Amino acid sequence: MSGRRRTLLKVIVLGDSGVGKTSLMNQYPFPFYLILLFFLLIRSIREIRYVHNKFSQQYKATIGADFVTKELQIDDKLVTLQIWDTAGQERFQSLGVAFYRGADCCVLVYDVNVMRSFDSLENWHDEFLKQANPADPKSFPFILLGNKIDVDGGNSRVVSEKKAKEWCAAKGNIPYFETSAKEDYNVDPAFFCIAKAALANE
Ligand code: GTP
Ligand code: MG
Repeated sequence: MSGRRRTLLKVIVLGDSGVGKTSLMNQYPFPFYLILLFFLLIRSIREIRYVHNKFSQQYKATIGADFVTKELQIDDKLVTLQIWDTAGQERFQSLGVAFYRGADCCVLVYDVNVMRSFDSLENWHDEFLKQANPADPKSFPFILLGNKIDVDGGNSRVVSEKKAKEWCAAKGNIPYFETSAKEDYNVDPAFFCIAKAALANE
């Protein structure tokens, strides 16, 4: 009989300032919250801040990088996602790159209503590979999230789903999810896919 295995996976979230990286992380529900809390209390491993199903309209820029931890069950594995939220603002970015190394998956986020945030993806993608320097850059798992699809009922979006999917295809079939951190739309499936991709890369 095989015992349950616990796996720690490191995920880095990148994208322009204001696209909603922090909001997505805060929104992402945490189904095994109590189990992990119990585990942490018993083991007293370290202090971790949990954010659960909260959305704030107010923008507060991330400075440097911060992480939250989420627990997921994937097949027979108990997976702990260590999700690093980085700063999109250029002046804070240099503080974040130190955390790229050892990543198991990179999540790129853009705002479907802001073309510039989509155009920046190329740069985030390349810069990540340069800084993280993974063993096999060609097969390193990325995931793209097109966020804020709720804005103006979708009428103000400037990047079509087709265009985003074409970019993903050109980059080696990166999985793509359209999300709304505000309305908690598609955030859960996106993070499940992220965990699976990171696990496969382990
Ligand atoms: P940096 O930390 O500067 O890199 O920005 P960020 O990518 O972490 O953006 P953040 O999550 O702080 O969100 C920026 C603003 O967008 C905030 O005012 C959020 O309330 C808002 N926002 C985030 N996600 C959504 C969304 O899905 N829909 C809408 N309407 N607003 C959103
Ligand atoms: Mg932020």
